[in-house]
Amino acid sequence: MKALRSKIVPFFIATFAVALFLTTCESAVKIDDAEKEIARKVDSVLSLMTLEEKVGQLMQYSGFGEFTGPVSADHNYMEPLKEGKIGSMLNANGAEYTRKLQQIAVEETRLGIPLIFGYDVIHGYRTIFPIPLAETASWDLDLIETSAHVAATEAAAAGQHWTFAPMVDIARDPRWGRIMEGAGEDPYLGSLVAAARVKGFQGDDLAAPNTIAACAKHFAAYGATMAGKDYNTVDISNRTLHEIYLPPFKAAVDAGVETFMSAFNEINGIPATANRYILNDLLKEEWQFKGFIVSDWSSIRELIPHGIAANDYEAGNLGMNAGVDMDMMGMIYDPQLFQLLEDGKVTQLQVDDAVRRILRVKFKLGLFDDPYRYCDEEREKEVIMSEEHLEISRDAARKSIVLLKNENNLLPLDPQKINTIALVGPMGDTRFDLIGEWSARGNPEEAISLLEGLTRSLEGKAKILHAKGCEISGEDKSGFSEAIRAASAADVVVAAVGESRMMSGEALCRSDIGLPGVQKEFLMELQKTGKPIVVVLMNGRPLGIPWVKGNVPAILETWFLGTQAGPAIADVLLGMYNPSGKLPVTFPVSVGQVPIFYSYKNTGRPPVPGIRWNSKYLDIPVEPLFPFGYGLSYTTFEYSEITLSDTILLPGSELTAEVTVKNTGVRDGEEIIQLYIRDLVGSVTRPVLELKGFRKENIPAGESVTVRFTLTEEDLKFYDINMDFTAEPGTFELFIGPNSAELKKATFAFME
Ligand code: NOJ
Repeated sequence: MKALRSKIVPFFIATFAVALFLTTCESAVKIDDAEKEIARKVDSVLSLMTLEEKVGQLMQYSGFGEFTGPVSADHNYMEPLKEGKIGSMLNANGAEYTRKLQQIAVEETRLGIPLIFGYDVIHGYRTIFPIPLAETASWDLDLIETSAHVAATEAAAAGQHWTFAPMVDIARDPRWGRIMEGAGEDPYLGSLVAAARVKGFQGDDLAAPNTIAACAKHFAAYGATMAGKDYNTVDISNRTLHEIYLPPFKAAVDAGVETFMSAFNEINGIPATANRYILNDLLKEEWQFKGFIVSDWSSIRELIPHGIAANDYEAGNLGMNAGVDMDMMGMIYDPQLFQLLEDGKVTQLQVDDAVRRILRVKFKLGLFDDPYRYCDEEREKEVIMSEEHLEISRDAARKSIVLLKNENNLLPLDPQKINTIALVGPMGDTRFDLIGEWSARGNPEEAISLLEGLTRSLEGKAKILHAKGCEISGEDKSGFSEAIRAASAADVVVAAVGESRMMSGEALCRSDIGLPGVQKEFLMELQKTGKPIVVVLMNGRPLGIPWVKGNVPAILETWFLGTQAGPAIADVLLGMYNPSGKLPVTFPVSVGQVPIFYSYKNTGRPPVPGIRWNSKYLDIPVEPLFPFGYGLSYTTFEYSEITLSDTILLPGSELTAEVTVKNTGVRDGEEIIQLYIRDLVGSVTRPVLELKGFRKENIPAGESVTVRFTLTEEDLKFYDINMDFTAEPGTFELFIGPNSAELKKATFAFME
């Protein structure tokens, strides 16, 4: 056993040399050379492996840290681990625990191949950042990259090598609980955010002690789940798949993502995990993805209830032939691959390819050089929840807040003029909810509630009367009276309402997207006090809250902002930070409008008020409650008309569009300036708007900035009638403005 293991040791040393080499070289040629070197080492390891060991590399077991899917009572990883039959573990946390498990893999198995530890580090490891949907509202790609980097730094110190993030599923149905995990509804914004997150997690050098491998998930089209119900069927056109749902995945590949996860859902009759076209033909062949694909939790086994495999054997056959390299908790590849190989259903080449892909990532992570480099208890203590990380989390939280309404400039609250604030509502003193779902090792006790945040900021300046009023759910109104008393005695009421953290995330879907329980009635009662009310929303999805919009003067969307939520919200409420976030997803009036998104098609009968025969509802408007891209500031911005460099764009040339944005208020502020286009006539119908660019500009009070966007033929491309990705000649409208509903317009033509 020892003799064989020693054959691998030179690879550790050689890999170290490769890693050093990689850090000093910049050219693509040298990176290619490094890839070749890794491939050579991978092949050498592969040549030592038995079939059992190869199949073992394809198996991923959950540790006992926490289960993130259904598990059988006899789940036991220890025996297979000792036998070298496990390549990866998930949900095993902490430097100490992962070191112990790694020790078994490295010291007790025949070849000593290190494990790769994976975990859902979605929006922070222990320092928790805003949920991904919220963070996208910052439209701040540097910030998003930094927050992923902080998460990687903490996770890497605690033994993790690999995060199951980013989730890059486009989501247009607020009922779907997992909408909180992604970047919202738009493929352009979603692609940029996907790339930023991949870069943040992986950095420039995967072997560095503060980077981890990323995973683009859930491939593909999980967000198009029917009726917003988790794990449900997806039935979409090829065009929508390619145009809307795939681009963020392609962006992740282009950003160098090392792994992919296959989705739970079926796509047009073929479950993603058995979908050879998606996984093999598109991802591995057309996109030339070199990393490995892990199944979702048990999704190979779930091919049986999907009704596409009769038994484990058939499920394994479908998964491997589709291109799934690693079996997460399905317990299918071991043992089914042995029989499948014997029967010639699966080839040795396929198994070897899957093993190679996994070993390649292990080499890139530097695990063959030092399998314990990530389990560092000292570093774990030092970096986790460091002052620096908390400060970045607070900044991210502030920048994710969206001001939805601010009648008569009720906000920011001025402690000079206010003696007493009533903080009421079920979210006012919650810590548990603030960190949102998928909060890894985030500890709610370490989160700072709104009450604490406000109390710290107002110390000695104004008094806070706190009363909960009601719970998030349920019918109990017995707390109303105390809260109403507090409200009546205050100068202003801050009503913190919303959803529980357990109402969005995996398998946490809702059919009603209003405020749960008696919260709306609670707000109605508060309104009767006649006091000015600021609603602070905390939620993981767009909410349908027309009454709130129509009746409450100020609304702040704060999502679930993470560890530093309280201070960040206080910063905004008290004007220490001027809100700048904009919605990355449309807020519907009610669930009856769903799916609703800004880039809809015009139809043959677009809605015209007062006309009968067109596309609308009798009982609700067609306009959303708040449109995509919407968000206010404590200052105001005025947009000039658009100046185009030309009225014609030719292939190979550029068109510039300029707009001057003036800060017309008395405070400095940041504005997210958005550019959309519309292709008026195409060989297939085109959306009424498509986001094609944006800038986030800090504009001092009274000053202006001129922003210039550049468009090329690339920006006009879409899948035409033959599914060719091309730009068609014709007239285009170009729009610039503060959101998708308030836009300046110009026109140009694309000519061939
Ligand atoms: C199932 C979820 O769909 C996926 O996103 C997650 O990464 C895995 N479970 C592992 O926890």
